[in-house]
Amino acid sequence: MKKILPVAAICSIFFIGCGGAQEPAAEAPAEGGAANELVSGYDLANGQEIYDTNCAGCHAEGVLNAPKTGEVEAWTARIEQGMETLIQKSIDGYTAEGNMPARGGNDALTDEEVANSVAYMVKESM
Ligand code: HEC
Repeated sequence: MKKILPVAAICSIFFIGCGGAQEPAAEAPAEGGAANELVSGYDLANGQEIYDTNCAGCHAEGVLNAPKTGEVEAWTARIEQGMETLIQKSIDGYTAEGNMPARGGNDALTDEEVANSVAYMVKESM
């Protein structure tokens, strides 16, 4: 299930070249410098691919109490934990209000792929 990248996502991957121009908020929340800074070390294109095939099943619609991607209120406090914590919890899995399976339930994913998909979700949810 490959989707064509929306303009905002392409912009976010090459954000340096976008010069802070405001994209119309089609589905992603307004982009801020803080989000770019947080996810700057990650491969967001790979992250989106991993997300689409492994994470969207729960995180697109909030299945099993999963925080919905793009729903800023659901993510603000989570993002405050910091990228490293978010990534580690995604690798190990954890249970609080719901059940986040280790590596989204796909043991074949590398730590790096999980990290990229977390970065993609964070980027879309700030
Ligand atoms: C089977 C459903 C399911 C799948 C698939 C899934 N998640 Fe989750 N995820 C959850 C649920 C439920 C929570 C909330 C758990 C809670 O807070 O109790 C969650 C929470 C999270 C959080 C927030 C962590 C925090 O500290 O608040 C991150 C980040 C995350 N998932 C990343 C991912 C990534 C990356 C993938 C794909 C590789 C993925 N998830 C796939 C169900 C899922």
